[in-house]
Amino acid sequence: MEIRRIGVVGLGAMGAGIAQLGIEAGYAVVGREISADLGERARERIAHFLERKVEKDQLAAEEREDALARLTLTTDLSALADCDLVIEAIVEDLGAKLELFRELERIVRPEAILATNTSALSVTEIAAATSTPERVVGMHFFNPAPLMPLVEIVRAELSAEEAVETAYGVAERMGKRPIRCHDTPGFVVNRILIPLLNDCIRALDEARVTPEVLDTAMTAGAGWPMGPCTLVDLVGIDVHVHASEALYEKLREPRMAPPPRIVAMRNAGLLGRKSGRGFYRYD
Ligand SMILES: NC(=O)c1ccc[n+]([C@@H]2O[C@H](COP(=O)([O-])OP(=O)(O)OC[C@H]3O[C@@H](n4cnc5c(N)ncnc54)[C@H](O)[C@@H]3O)[C@@H](O)[C@H]2O)c1
Repeated sequence: MEIRRIGVVGLGAMGAGIAQLGIEAGYAVVGREISADLGERARERIAHFLERKVEKDQLAAEEREDALARLTLTTDLSALADCDLVIEAIVEDLGAKLELFRELERIVRPEAILATNTSALSVTEIAAATSTPERVVGMHFFNPAPLMPLVEIVRAELSAEEAVETAYGVAERMGKRPIRCHDTPGFVVNRILIPLLNDCIRALDEARVTPEVLDTAMTAGAGWPMGPCTLVDLVGIDVHVHASEALYEKLREPRMAPPPRIVAMRNAGLLGRKSGRGFYRYD
């Protein structure tokens, strides 16, 4: 199926990045936010990132203008009626996503594909909110979407093969390195990375080492490109705790549960890089 127009619902950290990838790949993108102001802020962020690519000679100035001209913003979901693919990137809340997918099913043509960027919710459960679950897939981008190569293309229980292949093709055209996987909690990367990072945080206390020492151990000894404490600070302590709790709820494996130390950090507002302090301080 040929995709020409992509809808992106929710233009926060992930949605804005996905919209940027879409316009850079030559798609017409309709971005939907809950207020015009939030939509404008996302457009400014995208324009800023594209400007930096122009400055670094990664993009011609006309290409930037052409890409930005392919982006339209709306607060009205019915403006997505003509989209061939809609990628949902709203808050990680099952109720909100179910409601959105029910609405999207009414608005978007029956042959259009509906994708969710959820990290830890069940794509199958989201698909079940519609009467056409065969057209629902997961497209799990990583943060920051414009820079991270991987996209997990998630096959839910009832996803049609054609929908999976079309989503895979879109990710490839966006210059990504997609993989196909089944809808299991955490998909591939988070299923492995979340308990591993929780082990790292527990090791801080068990081995009585500082975050600096632990990061040195994992970069110099295990070849990680970035230490675990630096990584969790970058991801956001709250985001990591939320993902751990969601995986623990589904799999009941003790290693999935967030260690008390990091829950306390979240509760104290130490959220990592974005709040100025997590395992490290950022000025
Ligand atoms: N941040 C990450 O590291 C990351 C990585 C991969 C996937 N995800 C997933 O991507 C999704 C979005 O995460 P995020 O970090 O971008 O969140 P975010 O809070 O930065 O952005 C969510 C945006 O959605 C908007 N929104 C909420 N309801 C809406 C609606 N009904 N219609 C349109 N817009 C709506 C909000 O105004 C907000 O701007 C979540 O499902 C999350 O699990 C996040």
